[in-house]
Amino acid sequence: MAESKPTPYYITTAISYPNGRPHIGHAYEAIAADVIARFQRLRGRKVRFQTGTDEHGLKMARKAHEQSRTPRDLADEMSNYFLAMCDALNVKYDRFIRTVEEDHHRASQAIWERMQAAGDLYLDRYEGWYSIRDEAYYDESELIEGEGGAKLSPHQTPVEWTVEESWFFRLSKYQDRLLDLLKTPGFLEPASRANEMIAFVEQGLRDLSVSRTSFDWGVKVPGSDNHVMYVWVDALTNYLTGLGFPADTEDMRNFWPADLHLIGKDIVRFHTIYWPAFLMSADLPLPKKVYGHGFLLARGGEKMSKSAGNVVDPLAMAEAFGVDAMRYFLLREVAFGQDGSYSPEAIVSRANAELANSFGNLAQRTLSMIAKNMDGELEAFETNEADDALLSNVADACRNVLPTEFENLAFSTGIEAWMRAVYACNQYIDEQAPWTLKKTNSERMKAVLYTLFMALRDLAIAIQPVVPEKSADLLNQLGVSQSERAYSHLLDTQWYLRLVDTGFTVSKPTPIFPRLELPEEVEG
Ligand code: MSP
Repeated sequence: MAESKPTPYYITTAISYPNGRPHIGHAYEAIAADVIARFQRLRGRKVRFQTGTDEHGLKMARKAHEQSRTPRDLADEMSNYFLAMCDALNVKYDRFIRTVEEDHHRASQAIWERMQAAGDLYLDRYEGWYSIRDEAYYDESELIEGEGGAKLSPHQTPVEWTVEESWFFRLSKYQDRLLDLLKTPGFLEPASRANEMIAFVEQGLRDLSVSRTSFDWGVKVPGSDNHVMYVWVDALTNYLTGLGFPADTEDMRNFWPADLHLIGKDIVRFHTIYWPAFLMSADLPLPKKVYGHGFLLARGGEKMSKSAGNVVDPLAMAEAFGVDAMRYFLLREVAFGQDGSYSPEAIVSRANAELANSFGNLAQRTLSMIAKNMDGELEAFETNEADDALLSNVADACRNVLPTEFENLAFSTGIEAWMRAVYACNQYIDEQAPWTLKKTNSERMKAVLYTLFMALRDLAIAIQPVVPEKSADLLNQLGVSQSERAYSHLLDTQWYLRLVDTGFTVSKPTPIFPRLELPEEVEG
C-alpha cells in the first residue's frame, strides 16, 4: 500500500517566565501539549512541538534585581528547571526555545522591521498603567479596586503608572480584521472565550506601546538602540523563531501557520488580538487555532500561590505517584478548557480505581493466566458472539471514539470512553470466568484469554499519548513491535495471527500500574 505523505502539524505551548521554578500549572500545559503531539504522531502526522522560556521583560529584570543578580543569570538557572521538568515528565519537544538565544533576537527584529515597513510603527510617549506581573498595559477603565483603594489589573495584580518614550503599533488599524477572525468558528476555543475578546475589540482598540526605554533587558529595537521591545512582541515571535524565520526554511514552509497555540486562559488576549495583528502587519499567515485551557487549582479550588503555601512541585508529584499516573490524572480529571483542582487524595483514588484496579489488573490477570495455564503460548481460536461483541466494543472506543474526542481536545471524554471499554473487559472476564473454564472447557478458556489479549493490544495502542511509558511496557509484554504501534495498526486485524506464527510466548507479567499509597508528607 502506497503511504500518503504525512501532513505536518505544528503545536506550541506558551513559553513560561523563568522567574521562579515551574509549578504544576506549567506541567499541566506541557503535558497536554505533549499528549496532543504524541497523538498526532500516532495518527501519522509529521509533528513539530515547541515549548520554552520567555526570559525578557521587566518581571525578570525586577526579580533578578531583588536577588542582586543579572537577569541572564536568573534566566539561565530557572530555565534549566523548566527544561528538566519537560524531560522528567516525558514531554518530547522538538525545540525548547529560550528567548535570549541569538536566532530569536534575529527573528524578533525581522518581524519588527516588517511591521515598520508596513507603516504600522510610530514613535510617541506612553502614559498609562502597566502590570509587571502580567507584563500588560491596561486602560483605566479595565482596572479594579483592591484593598485600601489600590488599583489592580483585571487579574488582581498591581499596576504602575508609566510614562516613557515608546514605539507604538497601529493596533486600531486591524480592528475589523480581528473581529472577523475572532468570529471565525474554530479559531479561538473553547468558543466561550471568544465573547470576551470580541467585546474587548468592539469597545475600540487603542494603539499598543511596543517598546520600553526605562530598562534594557530585552531585544533591541532595530535602529533605536535605547529601546527594547515590549516583552510580548518578542515572546510571541518565538513561534516563528523555532522554524527558522525570517529565512525561507523548509520548516517555515512545512509548519507555518501553526496548527495550534496551546495556552492558558489568562493570556488569550495576547494570542488572539496582539499576535494576529502583528502577523497581519508583517503579512504572515495566521495560526489556525488558539486554545485557552483552564487553570489547575489547589485543593478546594484555591489559586496556587507561594503565600498560601499550596504550590505543587511537578517533579515531587511525579516522584510520588509516577509520571504516567500524573499525566493520566491531569487529562482525565479536568475537563479540558475548564478549571480543575488537584489534591493528592484525588490522584491516588483516580489512579487506583482506573489504572491499578481496572486497566492494570485486567492486563495482569489476562497475561498471568496465559503464562500459567497455557505456558504462554498463543494459538488461533474461534470466537463466539460474546467475544466478538467485546472486541467490537473495544475497537470502537480505541479506533473511533478516543481519536475523535482527542482530535477535538476533549481528553477527559476520550479517556472515559476508553475506560468504559476497560470496564467492559473486566465485566467480560467475570462473566466468562476463565478460571472455572480451566476445569470444564479449556478450549473456551483459551478463546476468552486470547480475546482479552487482543482487546489489551487495542487498549494499549490507543492510550499511548497519555501514558507513554506504561503503554510501551504493556505493548512489549504483548509482543507488539515498535513498528506496529501507530493508530493505523488498530485496523490491522491480522496481527494476532502473525504473532502466533512468530511463536511469541507470553511471559509471567510484571504489573504495569501498582496501587498507589498516599505519601505521608502530603497527607491531610
Ligand atoms: N510568558 C508568558 C507566555 C508567553 S507565550 C508567547 C506567560 N508565562 S507564565 O509562566 O506565566 O505562564 C505560562 C503558561 O502557563 C501560560 O499558558 C499560563 O496560562 C499557564 N499557567 C500558569 N499557571 C497556571 C495554572 N495554575 N494552571 C494552568 N495553567 C497555568 O504567561
